[in-house]
Amino acid sequence: MSLVKELYEPYVLPARARISTDPVMRRLVDPAIEPAVLERFFIQLNSLGVYMTEPVEGWIRRAGNRCIAEGLDSMGRALLTHSKHEAGHHLLMIEDTHHLVRRWNGRRRPALHVERLLHQHPTDAMRAYRQLHEDTLTSDLPMGQIAIEFEIENLSMVLGPHLLSNGVRVLGRETLEGLSFLKEHVQLDVGHTAFNSRLMEELLQLMPENARMLAELGSQALDIYLRFLGDCMHSAEDSLWNPTEAVA
Ligand SMILES: [Fe+2]
Ligand SMILES: [Fe+2]
Repeated sequence: MSLVKELYEPYVLPARARISTDPVMRRLVDPAIEPAVLERFFIQLNSLGVYMTEPVEGWIRRAGNRCIAEGLDSMGRALLTHSKHEAGHHLLMIEDTHHLVRRWNGRRRPALHVERLLHQHPTDAMRAYRQLHEDTLTSDLPMGQIAIEFEIENLSMVLGPHLLSNGVRVLGRETLEGLSFLKEHVQLDVGHTAFNSRLMEELLQLMPENARMLAELGSQALDIYLRFLGDCMHSAEDSLWNPTEAVA
């Protein structure tokens, strides 16, 4: 059995289970969800998601540099290469926001403003997400970044396809044109997750004693990301049902 399965996964399974049991995640993949709520959710996911995605390249690069500084050369170089594959992904979210808002404004009310959406205040979960990365990268265990990335890319691989297919079912195929970030990540993160799991295996061979700590970091990241998805859903609903308190 792999070390990932033996030493790490037992401690992340409760967090991973919430991808399919959390009430918000269940609603997002439920064909009975109100179409306007799902459409508005996708707009929030992309516009707020820029804040979550823009620093990813830098986080992975910093983890790579820390590994090299600590003598973990091959792992460090692998991270530096992976960091380049994450460059500019937030730009897809900006494009998707433009696309989705144009489509929304052509058919629905209240009218939305892209610039206001892109300048919304980050929620607590969003701030916590950045903070977790900062704390990890400046800690004695910067390789915790690998566990965080492992869980988040696994999330897009596991939840992404269901989210996309529900989007098509509820909103029609045209909606895919405004979901390029999600579409690309459903495909890309299969490869990235395989890469992360090899790196995790290597890491656990070096430091099996840190397995539980790594799993706690991975679980925290996943929990925070699920909270973020919950924020996107709740703000989507608020903006529809209480337009005077709308976030944008
Ligand atoms: Fe990405
Ligand atoms: Fe990725």
